[in-house]
Amino acid sequence: MCAGELRSGPSIPPCQGDVMAKVTKLHVNGTTYSIDADPQTSLLFVLRDQLDLTGSKYGCGEGQCGACTVLIDGNPRRSCITPVGAAATRQITTIEGLETNGRLHPLQAAFLTEGAMQCAYCTSGMIMTAVALLKANPHPNAEQVSQYMEGNICRCGTQPRIVAAVLRASREAAR
Ligand code: FES
Repeated sequence: MCAGELRSGPSIPPCQGDVMAKVTKLHVNGTTYSIDADPQTSLLFVLRDQLDLTGSKYGCGEGQCGACTVLIDGNPRRSCITPVGAAATRQITTIEGLETNGRLHPLQAAFLTEGAMQCAYCTSGMIMTAVALLKANPHPNAEQVSQYMEGNICRCGTQPRIVAAVLRASREAAR
């Protein structure tokens, strides 16, 4: 693939001839990192393997489970199917970028309080999606949370606690 629409991310710039320039910089969690990646490389692999940001998980690798969700310019995206070349000029936020000055993000704290994980493999993707939800709709009801999060899969069956955690974070943000 050289150029094209992505279901979950911005389109990658077209190739120039047969030569594609390497991606050498990536803006993640407020820091500009030097990287060395083919533009078609999965953003998830660059985050995990080059930047050691391993909070984003590889689940299905096909954009179907949500374990790899990050924010790109504030929008939840599946990093497993996003070529790094499509994200090179964007602001990327991963789970590691949510805490500030050693304090957990309210959603991280709410997930802990509600025990909204079992194996926790899906947790970072869940939280990143929930960050986008509460930004778009700060006071969702339970049905709206379920609908927004339905693309994020939890195989342990903790969805009720995940919904409770998102609602808790919403309530606490309103205080
Ligand atoms: Fe990316 Fe499943 S690993 S959506």
